[in-house]
Amino acid sequence: MSEKQVLVTGASGEIGQALVQELSKRGGYRIVTSDLMPLPESIGSMVREHVQGDLVYKVKTFYDYDFDIIFHLAASLSSKAEVATEEAHRINVEGTMQLLMLAAYRSEKYKKSVKFLFPSSIAAYGMPNLKVKQKAGTVKEEEWDIPHTMYGCNKLYCEKLGMYYSQYFGQKHLDEKPPVMLDFRALRFPGLISAFTLPSGGTSDYGPEMLHAAAQGNRYSCFVRADTKISFMAMPDAIKSLLMLMDAPVKSLSSRVYNVAAFAITAEDFRQRAVNAFPGAKISFEINPRRQGIVDSWPEDIDDARARTDWGWKPDYDVDRFFDDYFLPEIRKRYSLVGSH
Ligand code: SER
Repeated sequence: MSEKQVLVTGASGEIGQALVQELSKRGGYRIVTSDLMPLPESIGSMVREHVQGDLVYKVKTFYDYDFDIIFHLAASLSSKAEVATEEAHRINVEGTMQLLMLAAYRSEKYKKSVKFLFPSSIAAYGMPNLKVKQKAGTVKEEEWDIPHTMYGCNKLYCEKLGMYYSQYFGQKHLDEKPPVMLDFRALRFPGLISAFTLPSGGTSDYGPEMLHAAAQGNRYSCFVRADTKISFMAMPDAIKSLLMLMDAPVKSLSSRVYNVAAFAITAEDFRQRAVNAFPGAKISFEINPRRQGIVDSWPEDIDDARARTDWGWKPDYDVDRFFDDYFLPEIRKRYSLVGSH
């Protein structure tokens, strides 16, 4: 069987690195990447070609490529986007728009639907206040789609753009033959946690930052209240969900946008787990009101029943398995703590 041509944007980021590793392990993919940064050495040999630079300007490079699948991961995350709003809009929206146009063009011209996988986010939701957040509990895809952040607005709008390009682009009348359109599929991810990399510029970063700091014996000052609760997911589950959605037959999809969830815990739960695993961990709470406000607008948990029904989604890691079977063993190896408590 011939190799599938894949483009991964934002490949030097957290999801990107984990995804490239998994695609390479699976085999059968010719992987091209792009990122503002050079590729980390750990994945360099898995990639056929890396295009470094700003996607908005580099996208024209890709018009000569015959991609079957695009994973568009490049983004400016929520905390960073809030202080550099115009830049965030350019990266998050214009970058996506450029790539959607490319995929739409190729799909129509070569009569082959390009698959376009897009990580959206819990930031697409906006709860008006803590009381409503606590009362709502688990939130479905169509509820509370009133983001409070630039990043959330960008993600929600790009979901809509993706739906437009995969369903309505060309606006053909019902009795005209519709063009072949791209095949857009989005996941609304919770906060993601990797044992190997750290996020930057996000607001759910306090979870992974706290754990990595504790594992290294560093002090950590958590920027949200101890009772702050949102949903999190292990990076291997994030990659699993992306690949499951990629593989799902189009007929099984009742939507183009899916929540995926794993476990919803508080910042205090993180602290307790960190202290139990790394006795002596020094974790305090020093609230950053802007970042607190962002997390308070995100739901406590998200309902992923639609993904479970349509394409059989189920995370491998609940909270106990996340810590005991993934995060702690890996992080101990990483920071050479094997044999410690
Ligand atoms: N983890 C992201 C952030 O904090 C949310 O998708 O920005």
